[in-house]
Amino acid sequence: MHTDAPVTVLGLGLMGGALAGAFLRAGHPTTVWNRTTAKADDLVARGATLAGSPAAAIAAAPLVVVCVSDYDAAADALDGPLDGRVVVNLTSGTPSRARALAEEVARRGGGYLDGGVMAVPEAVGTAEAVLAYSGPRSLYEAHASTLGSLGTGLHFGEDPGLSATHEMATLVLMWGMLNGFLNGAAILGATGVSASAYLPIAQTAIGMGGRLVAGVRDAGRRRHLPGRRRHRRHPPGGDGARGRGERVARRQRRGAEAGQGIGRASGDRRSRRQRVRGAGGAVPQAMSREAAAGITHLTALGEGQAPVPPFGVMHQPPLWEGGAHAETL
Ligand SMILES: NC(=O)c1ccc[n+]([C@@H]2O[C@H](COP(=O)([O-])OP(=O)(O)OC[C@H]3O[C@@H](n4cnc5c(N)ncnc54)[C@H](OP(=O)(O)O)[C@@H]3O)[C@@H](O)[C@H]2O)c1
Repeated sequence: MHTDAPVTVLGLGLMGGALAGAFLRAGHPTTVWNRTTAKADDLVARGATLAGSPAAAIAAAPLVVVCVSDYDAAADALDGPLDGRVVVNLTSGTPSRARALAEEVARRGGGYLDGGVMAVPEAVGTAEAVLAYSGPRSLYEAHASTLGSLGTGLHFGEDPGLSATHEMATLVLMWGMLNGFLNGAAILGATGVSASAYLPIAQTAIGMGGRLVAGVRDAGRRRHLPGRRRHRRHPPGGDGARGRGERVARRQRRGAEAGQGIGRASGDRRSRRQRVRGAGGAVPQAMSREAAAGITHLTALGEGQAPVPPFGVMHQPPLWEGGAHAETL
């Protein structure tokens, strides 16, 4: 893909730098700004234009992508007139902060999409990177082609809080997997088995988790097909639900034995592209990949090696603070 649509990126940390790099690779004239100017050096060498202030960066392109530590930092970075700009905020945060920022940007004459990057920086710019967006669909569609330079985009709805909600839900899933790995490593560690030795089987189990999620989704769909339900009735006293579960498990086992990739249950004939587009499966798959990368990292830490971090800071939204979790529910 090569396109001439200009774009601005505010924030050049690990993730912001990866986003700007992906736009450059796709051919977009890219203006960048970062509080610490030196972080732009490499991008400027690759063709980016460094703006001297947030206002100058915002003025340089109609599409302004923001990716900084948190929403307070995003408010600092969005320091300039927003008339006629579309702000795409890929900073992690809570749904209420996303909605509040959407209102503020609208007050200042701009359009707003919120978003979450469900990928490590190294994956940005490939189809493997899944990015969740929410806000006006018309804005998303107008810029979907440019945003497509970053990875596979999914639009979750008009409410700007929805992408943050999805990001929370998926981070809970990812942290659950990482914590599960630590528990498993502790159990095996008690018998003298190293975390490295546990790694291959742990990664296989995470792959199975992806297939189980796909199985739950497929089973749910079948239950809701009214025309088919009549033919699936089981005799009184029968164990229909268990039978269905066993069929799904059998399919998954066959898939695992056939060595199919994460998230593809045996019998799922959709192409990889179709599967990635299905919002129900894409996010758990992306999180499986992130968790697998995180586990490799944790193992290296546990073994006392000096690991190369797969991601910089693993920012976890403050799920248990400020009522964010209750609000989500
Ligand atoms: N890294 C990942 O793997 C990953 C994955 C998914 C989502 N994310 C999300 O992406 C966002 C950025 O993460 P990151 O990994 O790029 O973090 P990072 O490497 O720590 O970079 C943080 C960025 O925020 C800027 N910043 C902080 N406070 C600021 C302020 N008050 N005003 C202006 N700029 C400010 C920093 O500027 P300076 O350079 O001047 O300090 C830097 O550009 C986070 O919300 C994170 O949750 C990251």
